[in-house]
Formats: sequence, C-alpha cells, structure tokens
Amino acid sequence: MSMSAAPVIEYLRQLELQGETHVNVDDEARLILREFYLRARAGNTAGNTAGHKPAPVSPPAPEPLPSPLPGRPENQVAEPAESPEQLVVTGNSAAERIISLKRQAAGWGPVRALDSLRQTMVFSVGNPEADVMLIGEAPGYDEERLGEPFVGKAGQKLDGILKAMGLARRDVYMTNVVKFRPAMPNQTTNSRKPTSAEMEACMPFIHAEVEVVAPKVIIVLGGTPAQALLGAEGSVVSLRGEFHEFAGVPVRVTYHPSYILHNEATAEKRKLWEDMLSVMDYLKMPVSDKQRGFFLSP
Ligand code: URA
Repeated sequence: MSMSAAPVIEYLRQLELQGETHVNVDDEARLILREFYLRARAGNTAGNTAGHKPAPVSPPAPEPLPSPLPGRPENQVAEPAESPEQLVVTGNSAAERIISLKRQAAGWGPVRALDSLRQTMVFSVGNPEADVMLIGEAPGYDEERLGEPFVGKAGQKLDGILKAMGLARRDVYMTNVVKFRPAMPNQTTNSRKPTSAEMEACMPFIHAEVEVVAPKVIIVLGGTPAQALLGAEGSVVSLRGEFHEFAGVPVRVTYHPSYILHNEATAEKRKLWEDMLSVMDYLKMPVSDKQRGFFLSP
C-alpha cells in the first residue's frame, strides 16, 4: 500500500483554516498515524548504514503566512491608536486573517507586561465568516485545558442556547475579550473576572476580530465584556433589551450563561431567551411559535 502523509496534512491545514483547533483521534486513526510515522522513519533510515541511530522524524515546518501585500490595504487591519504594539493582520481569507491574529496574541507585549494572566492562550472558535459573533470575558479552567472558548459548564449551557436558536458552534464565531485565563494565587480550578487593564490590553484583538469576521450582530455575554466593548458602567440589567453599537455592528448584551447556571428561575431564562429572539428577528431567522414561547410561564 503506498501511503503519503501529504493529504492528511493538507486536510488538517484546511480544518485549522476553518477555525478548528482540535481533532479527535480514535484508536484506528492512531494506528494509521503510527503507520505514517513508521514508514517515514524507514524512509529516513534508507541511506543510513546498519547500526546507525535512525534520524528523528521532524514535523513539517509550518508554512509562513504571506506577508502583507503592498497595494492590498484590505489585507490589513489598522491597530487602535492607543496600542503601543503594532498589530498587523495578514492573509486573504477571513480564516487566514484570524490565524494571523491568533499567532500575534500568543506573545502579545501589553499582556505580557501586565504579568497577571496565565501563559496559555485561548483565542476563538467557530466560523470566521459568521453572521453572529459571541463575546465572553475570559477563558476559565476548562477552556485553558482544552484550548477553546466556552467548553466548560457555561459553554455547554451556551451550546444549548444556540441549539434552541437552530444554530451550532460551527455556525457562529465565539471569542473572549481576554485571551488568557486570569491568574490567581494558589489557583486550581477557580477563576476570577478579568480586570479593566487586562481587558484593555486585549482589546486590539476584539477590534481586529470584528473587522475580520464582519458579523451582522454581536452578542455580549455578561457585564464584564459589555464594559470593555461599550465602555458602559451599567449592569446587564440596564444594558439588555436594546441594541447598542460597537465598530458599526449592532450589539445585544445578555446574561452570561454561568448566571443562568446559577439562577435557574424560568423568568431569568426567559429574559436571556428574549435577547436571543431579538437577535433572531434582527437576522430574519425563522422563529417557530414553539421557539417564541420558550420559558413563558404556563
Ligand atoms: N466564560 C467566559 O466568559 N468565556 C469562556 O470562554 C468560558 C467561560
């Protein structure tokens, strides 16, 4: 059987461009990958004399992203004026441009200078050309562990809300204002809210993500990210119920899904659901009578 790893690598690259950060590898796939490894190692040792240690198999070097093209200003997103560090967005497709942002976020100077966030970056997930962009506050323990926003209990609640809207994770773009888990002394699974300074340090990414994704609507989850995006002092209670605006995009503020996890009252669920209905109406998504009636008291 002739085997080449090239199509697999190509497929994984395409998944990455679509925003995937993980692939599940079952036992069968593991065996196939091991076979690739063994054959590559055999190929590498073909020129070795007997008894020599086989050369280690190195992964293919990542291809550099194209540098910004002169005369193609649409390939660049201007950094906000107050940022001390230059954020340059490269790539032709939205997916490539999000990847270029992600690469810069990992070592972002203003974040490193604060020295109050943890090391592992959690950037975003979903469709970089989505109509709906959801913005939370910061990754927590589960998100840091899995490298993906909203994968813990709050994320599962959010998945349920999206499902009720007829959407899946891959249909929307999900991100957080802060791309690293806020650090605490003796930290285990506990989390804290990001500070204003931490949010400010990461805001150039939100500006750039909004420009790249160009969503039709933004849903802000909770008062903390609302403060960062809208400069609002108000609580979710005072901000929800109407559209705001960020970088020319309509913004709906609603409760963070963790609030609903801790407050199971039907009336609170209904408020969050009404915010989602207003987004669905705004996007002219079909809404059934059943959907319209979710969480209405009998
Ligand atoms: N809460 C957030 O705001 N974001 C996450 O990614 C997870 C929990």
